[in-house]
Amino acid sequence: MSPWEQLSVASLFVLSPVSPAAILDDPMECSRGERLAITLAKDSINRNTNRSTTGKLEVDIFELLRDSEYEMGETMCQIMSKGVVAVLGPSASPASNSIISNICGEKEVPYVKVAPEDILKVQFPRFTTLDLRPTNTDISLAVAGLLTFFNSTTSCLICAQADCLLNLEQLLRQFLISKETLSVRMLDDSQDPTPLLKEIRDDKTATIIVDANATMSHIILERASELGMLSVYYTYIFTSLEFSLLRLDDVADQRVNIVGFSVFNKTHPFFQDFVLSLNRSWQENCDHAPFAGTPLSSALLFDAVYAVVAAVQELNRSQNVGATQLSCKSSKIWEHGTSLMNYLRMVELEGLTGHIEFNSKGQRSNYALRIMQNSKDGLRQIGLWHSEDGLSMERKLPSINVTDTLFNTTLTITTILENPYVMLRQNHQELEGNDRYEGFCVDMLKELADILKFKYRIRLVGDGLYGVPGANGTWTGMVGELISRKADLAVAGLTITAEREKVIDFSKPFMTLGISIMYRVHLGRRPGYFSFLDPFSPGVWLFMLLAYLAVSCVLFLVARLTPYEWYNPHPCLKGRCNLLINQYSLGNSFWFPVGGFMQQGSTIAPRALSTRCVSGVWWAFTLIIISSYTANLAAFLTVQRMEVPIESVDDLADQTAIEYGTMHGGSTMTFFQNSRYQTYQRMWNFMHSKKPSVFVKSTEEGIARVLNSNYAYLLESTMNEYYRQRNCNLTQIGGLLDTKGYGIGMPLGESNHRVSERSVPRKNPSRFSNLTSTHGVISHNGNLSEMCFFFFLQKINIFVSAKVVF
Ligand SMILES: *[C@@H]1O[C@H](CO)[C@@H](O)[C@H](O)[C@H]1NC(C)=O
Ligand SMILES: *[C@@H]1O[C@H](CO)[C@@H](O)[C@H](O)[C@H]1NC(C)=O
Ligand SMILES: *[C@@H]1O[C@H](CO)[C@@H](O)[C@H](O)[C@H]1NC(C)=O
Ligand SMILES: *[C@@H]1O[C@H](CO)[C@@H](O)[C@H](O)[C@H]1NC(C)=O
Ligand SMILES: *[C@@H]1O[C@H](CO)[C@@H](O)[C@H](O)[C@H]1NC(C)=O
Ligand SMILES: *[C@@H]1O[C@H](CO)[C@@H](O)[C@H](O)[C@H]1NC(C)=O
Ligand SMILES: *[C@@H]1O[C@H](CO)[C@@H](O)[C@H](O)[C@H]1NC(C)=O
Ligand SMILES: *[C@@H]1O[C@H](CO)[C@@H](O)[C@H](O)[C@H]1NC(C)=O
Ligand SMILES: *[C@@H]1O[C@H](CO)[C@@H](O)[C@H](O)[C@H]1NC(C)=O
Ligand SMILES: *[C@@H]1O[C@H](CO)[C@@H](O)[C@H](O)[C@H]1NC(C)=O
Ligand SMILES: *[C@@H]1O[C@H](CO)[C@@H](O)[C@H](O)[C@H]1NC(C)=O
Ligand SMILES: *[C@@H]1O[C@H](CO)[C@@H](O)[C@H](O)[C@H]1NC(C)=O
Repeated sequence: MSPWEQLSVASLFVLSPVSPAAILDDPMECSRGERLAITLAKDSINRNTNRSTTGKLEVDIFELLRDSEYEMGETMCQIMSKGVVAVLGPSASPASNSIISNICGEKEVPYVKVAPEDILKVQFPRFTTLDLRPTNTDISLAVAGLLTFFNSTTSCLICAQADCLLNLEQLLRQFLISKETLSVRMLDDSQDPTPLLKEIRDDKTATIIVDANATMSHIILERASELGMLSVYYTYIFTSLEFSLLRLDDVADQRVNIVGFSVFNKTHPFFQDFVLSLNRSWQENCDHAPFAGTPLSSALLFDAVYAVVAAVQELNRSQNVGATQLSCKSSKIWEHGTSLMNYLRMVELEGLTGHIEFNSKGQRSNYALRIMQNSKDGLRQIGLWHSEDGLSMERKLPSINVTDTLFNTTLTITTILENPYVMLRQNHQELEGNDRYEGFCVDMLKELADILKFKYRIRLVGDGLYGVPGANGTWTGMVGELISRKADLAVAGLTITAEREKVIDFSKPFMTLGISIMYRVHLGRRPGYFSFLDPFSPGVWLFMLLAYLAVSCVLFLVARLTPYEWYNPHPCLKGRCNLLINQYSLGNSFWFPVGGFMQQGSTIAPRALSTRCVSGVWWAFTLIIISSYTANLAAFLTVQRMEVPIESVDDLADQTAIEYGTMHGGSTMTFFQNSRYQTYQRMWNFMHSKKPSVFVKSTEEGIARVLNSNYAYLLESTMNEYYRQRNCNLTQIGGLLDTKGYGIGMPLGESNHRVSERSVPRKNPSRFSNLTSTHGVISHNGNLSEMCFFFFLQKINIFVSAKVVF
């Protein structure tokens, strides 16, 4: 079989055949429906036209199996030799397109192009080429108009393919002359958009322009959804004209602002039939995927057939059009070509892709791109970009009326049990719903709900974590629930951190605090009967005893051996000169060091040099020991040692005897993990590598560990204060390691509309000054934009104060 499979059907009833040729690169299976579109157009034309005045339309279809210039050249010669009035081009084969354009130009046969514009613009555009697809310049202008409309000064462009910058040249030019910034990010060969999206998220760029085909765009949206980037904060603009093929319902809900373009005229009388036929054919040929929608190329081919027929009919009024068989070898051209081309440029008709009209360059003019936005029930038209009049938005973007949006809505509040912010009531088993909880945050929430008139449902976070980012960019805990929109607000002791602010929004902090060290109080012992032994360890005492025994024995032996210790006690009694005695008897040998040690001396004095040496050494030893003992004893007995062995975080970091740790998966842990400060890095290495783990599941567990083992727990100062008030065996070491605030967390972008920046309806201020809740008192300074909450927690007798700034 030749690579070109000819599908044309022999004509039955031909007076004067109007036969354009169509070259298609549409696969047979799961096709874009281009063949069908041409057949539908042909049937519809043949059915409707007046048989007595026009001939029958026949379209020769050629299959393009691969995009090769050489093979295309051969095929064009075959096509020309059949005699055609026009060539309708393949929708995606850049190399073939340029060859078709050149050959048609030589032979003066009109070429109606449905493919995207050539990247390398032909120096002198072939007079015979008509571009049916909206030009890239128009799309760029429309995108630029949208950016202006959305007031976005910073945007990001994601390019799936290298030619995107050339395609959107006009858009880039706009940025060159304005103060606005556009960052361009190109997908690499791995085609994985996750790293790009993470960068965009970290840059906090809210407007994302995506230049990719429908498949790739869908992948980008999926990844964005995993990264929590499908929130009100972001606006996505898709440049692909096949926006309607993007299946949005499985990735995004209507809260995200996703905008794209469509050229289809859904009110065209043939449109419904067209979609139905494509759908039916799709279901016959392709069973593994559902029919997504109308591909642009098939609708363009449909319109191309109509445009050619309209032009030929016009031309036929003045001259009898006949197709001529042309040969590649001769220089003969089609004599009607130029006239037909002129008529083609004058064609005006309403097609499936809107109003069809061409300008002098053979490009679409006087048509409109409809601007579509996702909404609850599919895509909704929000505006129109007209090639002459520019952008006109039909409706204002929903201006959110806060009282309106929150009024009578039930918000899901995610929170975590943490004293004193959220606690279970003692009789919580008997209670239901929100009544089960009490605490600072619960009271604050109650007041907020009262002011903003919303209802809420408190739900504890599924995994019991505050939220840390995982390796693949997803978040755990309450932050994760906000990102995935399982919850609308996170009201808890949720610390505002820079990483979290990239993925969720926070209210202004309602409480400021820092990380502190909790340790148990080092209680001074009462002096016991043997506390005089305390200055030295038992080992020292033991060795002192051994030294004493050794010195005594040595003294005894040395005294025995030396002749100078033997003396005559009665030198006058000459006759008894052989009576020599030694004063170092065993008893005296033991007594003499004792006398020396007690610094009392004794009547025994060494006489020989050897015994004097032994005594001297012992006395020197005694001097040092006694001095040390005296000094230590004073310290031990007079000062009640209240202070702990560590006094600051540096002391803690410098030692390893006392273990220390934080709550697992909380902001304190992340603080150490991400700290650049050397001491904290060292502490993180210690905590991270310590086995068994020094991380605890809850504050209670940490406190139990502090009380029962040699462990210091790092936690937030408010919590530290709270527990210190309740247990006087706990103390805080040093000051705060950092300062930060607790805020109410909400999905990114909500803050503009919901809780933080809203106009609190004016109310009688006295209403607030007298508010009392179960165990909270709320007062305010007469300024409704700023309210101070003072909570008196009766049970524990402390004040927690907080300022909520609206
Ligand atoms: C077809 O042509 C005949 C004769 O020229 C004319 O009377 C009739 O109105 C035409 N019908 C259509 C549908 O154009
Ligand atoms: C041109 O018009 C003549 C009658 O005027 C008709 O016979 C012929 O079929 C027409 N050709 C085309 C291509 O419509
Ligand atoms: C853009 O700014 C103008 C004037 O500042 C404002 O009227 C318009 O509503 C803003 N548009 C959007 C979408 O916020
Ligand atoms: C969409 O673009 C990607 C590359 O960006 C390409 O791999 C894929 O084949 C394209 N899909 C279609 C249907 O053209
Ligand atoms: C859609 O087509 C119908 C009928 O062809 C036409 O009346 C209408 O103006 C077209 N709408 C647009 C937006 O082009
Ligand atoms: C295609 O047809 C099927 C069944 O006839 C229908 O369920 C589906 O919604 C149609 N798809 C579109 C995009 O119209
Ligand atoms: C918001 O909605 C409420 C009730 O629906 C209405 O009374 C109020 O005027 C609206 N505010 C604005 C600014 O539109
Ligand atoms: C609030 O919502 C409930 C249920 O959604 C509805 O029954 C009730 O009428 C609404 N109240 C107001 C004042 O809109
Ligand atoms: C990301 O990691 C979390 C656990 O860290 C896992 O539950 C989740 O499935 C991962 N997501 C993807 C897309 O790999
Ligand atoms: C504090 O420690 C002392 C001694 O270990 C113990 O007797 C006392 O019960 C502890 N107090 C509290 C509140 O745990
Ligand atoms: C404040 O509360 C007290 C007692 O609860 C009550 O007597 C007093 O009238 C209240 N004041 C106002 C302004 O509501
Ligand atoms: C309310 O508080 C803000 C911020 O502290 C201050 O700028 C403003 O003047 C205050 N308004 C009144 C009426 O006190």
